[in-house]
Amino acid sequence: MRSSGLLVAAVTALCSAAAESSSSRSQHRLFSTAFGYPGVNSTYDYVVVGGGTAGLTLARRLAAHASVAIIEAGGFYEVETGNASVVPLLSLTGLAFLDPAETFLPQPLADWSLVTEPVVGAAGRRIHYAQGKTLGGSSAINTMSYIRSTRGAYERWAEIVGDDSYEWDAMLPFLKRSVHLTPPDLAKRNSTAAPVVYDRSAFDPAGGPMQVSWNNWVDPTLAWMAKAVGQAGLPLSDEGFVSGSLVGQGAWVPSTIDPERATRSSAETSFLREAIEETNLIVYTHTLAKNILFDTASLPKATGVSVNTAGLDYTILARKEVVVSAGVFHSPQLLLVSGVGPVSTLQSLSIPVVADLPGVGQNLWDPIQIFVSYQADTTSGQVLTADPATAPRYLEQYFTDASGPYSSAAGFLAAERVPPSYRSGLRSETLAKLSSWPEDVPELEYITGSFVGPNLTTIATVAVVMPLPFSRGSVTISSRDAADPPVIDLGWFADDADLELALAGLKRLRNDIWNTPVARQHRVGKELLPSPGVQTDKQMREYIRQNASPIWHACSTCAMGKAEDVEEGKAVVDSHGRVFGVDGLRVVDASAFPFSMPGHPQSAVYALAEKIAEDIMKSA
Ligand SMILES: Cc1cc2nc3c(=O)[nH]c(=O)nc-3n(C[C@H](O)[C@H](O)[C@H](O)COP(=O)(O)OP(=O)(O)OC[C@H]3O[C@@H](n4cnc5c(N)ncnc54)[C@H](O)[C@@H]3O)c2cc1C
Ligand SMILES: *[C@@H]1O[C@H](CO)[C@@H](O)[C@H](O)[C@H]1NC(C)=O
Ligand SMILES: *[C@@H]1O[C@H](CO)[C@@H](O)[C@H](O)[C@H]1NC(C)=O
Ligand SMILES: *[C@@H]1O[C@H](CO)[C@@H](O)[C@H](O)[C@H]1NC(C)=O
Ligand SMILES: *[C@@H]1O[C@H](CO)[C@@H](O)[C@H](O)[C@H]1NC(C)=O
Repeated sequence: MRSSGLLVAAVTALCSAAAESSSSRSQHRLFSTAFGYPGVNSTYDYVVVGGGTAGLTLARRLAAHASVAIIEAGGFYEVETGNASVVPLLSLTGLAFLDPAETFLPQPLADWSLVTEPVVGAAGRRIHYAQGKTLGGSSAINTMSYIRSTRGAYERWAEIVGDDSYEWDAMLPFLKRSVHLTPPDLAKRNSTAAPVVYDRSAFDPAGGPMQVSWNNWVDPTLAWMAKAVGQAGLPLSDEGFVSGSLVGQGAWVPSTIDPERATRSSAETSFLREAIEETNLIVYTHTLAKNILFDTASLPKATGVSVNTAGLDYTILARKEVVVSAGVFHSPQLLLVSGVGPVSTLQSLSIPVVADLPGVGQNLWDPIQIFVSYQADTTSGQVLTADPATAPRYLEQYFTDASGPYSSAAGFLAAERVPPSYRSGLRSETLAKLSSWPEDVPELEYITGSFVGPNLTTIATVAVVMPLPFSRGSVTISSRDAADPPVIDLGWFADDADLELALAGLKRLRNDIWNTPVARQHRVGKELLPSPGVQTDKQMREYIRQNASPIWHACSTCAMGKAEDVEEGKAVVDSHGRVFGVDGLRVVDASAFPFSMPGHPQSAVYALAEKIAEDIMKSA
């Protein structure tokens, strides 16, 4: 007994020594020194729940000036899920667990294995909704496209939350801060068919540590598909998709890839690795945050988090603040199990009410995608690497030169407003809804993809995405235990306008993009998806309901807003990420977006984390 007591005392002393001493670049730090000792209660200035995209970014910045602990349910994905999450080409097809079907192949060391409630508007399907359960969070399993939202969208964000500092010009420094851009390697790309155009002034040479770069290889199938999109009326942008405009154009977009080795750059490889070297950040891996602890003042203050590592319960206390960055489904879950949420939900599970916040778990925005595909007469990265005759050569090219098909992931996107010929067919209610958005916000987005089909054929796919759904879903709990999965209602097509837009998008793909001269030249045989039998509007609606897929951009379940919107359930955090009704607690991640930022969200998640980190340091 005595010796184990001494041991605990010694370990506690070690942990607090690590936590207390301020960051020092001069001293060499052991890698192992960055990890907490499970089972030992410890105290830090800030405790960040979730070592994901936002959590690691924010923690790394805070750790430059304060003691910080990260609580993360997963571990290092490079160690635990092999190379599929590291090699760009494998980011979609190599990670079998991204499959949205209920019958997906689970990967418990990288994914939460969340399965939604039956989606009423989508033929009652239950959707497996991939979410990173690993250091880096969803940045460790996403498809890596790096694009930014629009000027108008950020202006809308500023309006909704009543804070000008969310306008584009004010956000741009934060968008720049997290990323380091490497210009395209044109020799490695070896293609005139995929011209990269970008705006250098949209990046800061001093930005980082996230790496953003262009694929070191161009997929020949994507090259002609990009031309087809161009022939359908969406020419290449002359500044790319990082400068605040998206509509009416296409772009070869960069990805979060480290160009030197052509490996995934995630919040873990960038922010965490840097923090381990340069700060005294402490990470608790394979550790589940079970409850946020509050003192019982009239304004309850978050004092720490009770956690569990492999069955061991202990407490991590925060001298200053607890920051929840557990992602769009788990952040609201953690608030709910801790007594912060709609009173009715809390009471139904006998959870003591800390703060009545009706909006926790509400306002789920979840854009969807719909596919049209054909066989193509060109080869693709997926085919070249699936073919035993060519794969070894490309593997060697990847290892020696960081180029070739393995180095590359997708890369061409386009966006537009619904074109007039389709717009005129929309109901006036739908038009009125669309008109509530700024002019520069895309209503339809296209993503090109190429896959391997039977007998090493190439399957070419264009997906249409509706970035601003009008339907809302929700997240709630059916248990007081954070180890049980949250209950997710995606709400797809709850609003008819979404089905109408999806139908317009599907027709645009089939009638225009897939019908352009260049697409007709390269497509082979009959349409594979939906298939020639799907012709009437009724059949197409049915196809959409049966096949709509997530694009994993869910957000806004702890929406940022104004104090006057709290009661209506429209706001959970203020424009500093502070949870209304309590003290010492923030939510900073995709759940705090006021709405789904058109474009792809990761740039905004990093920027938000940078912004709130600066906020916290300024107010400390
Ligand atoms: C398959 C996929 C493809 C995508 N493709 C793109 C793309 O190409 N471009 C783009 O811009 N965006 C893309 N996205 C979206 C983007 O990656 C996410 O919006 C973003 O990463 C979310 O960041 P976050 O910080 O909100 O959450 P996450 O990065 O998911 O982090 C949440 C973290 O919290 C941890 N956690 C949760 N609960 C607990 C708990 N109770 N205790 C301890 N830890 C906990 C999780 O394990 C996780 O590490 C994609 C997402 C997915 C899933
Ligand atoms: C850790 O904290 C918890 C909760 O405050 C307490 O019950 C427990 O005894 C503490 N453990 C140790 C080893 O001090
Ligand atoms: C990934 O790992 C597998 C072994 O699990 C190996 O066969 C394959 O060549 C690797 N691919 C790359 C691109 O590293
Ligand atoms: C560049 O592309 C050409 C034509 O597609 C091809 O013949 C050549 O081998 C490529 N060069 C390299 C270095 O890959
Ligand atoms: C694949 O090849 C086999 C043998 O040549 C052939 O019978 C089959 O029809 C082919 N399948 C497709 C989809 O091309």
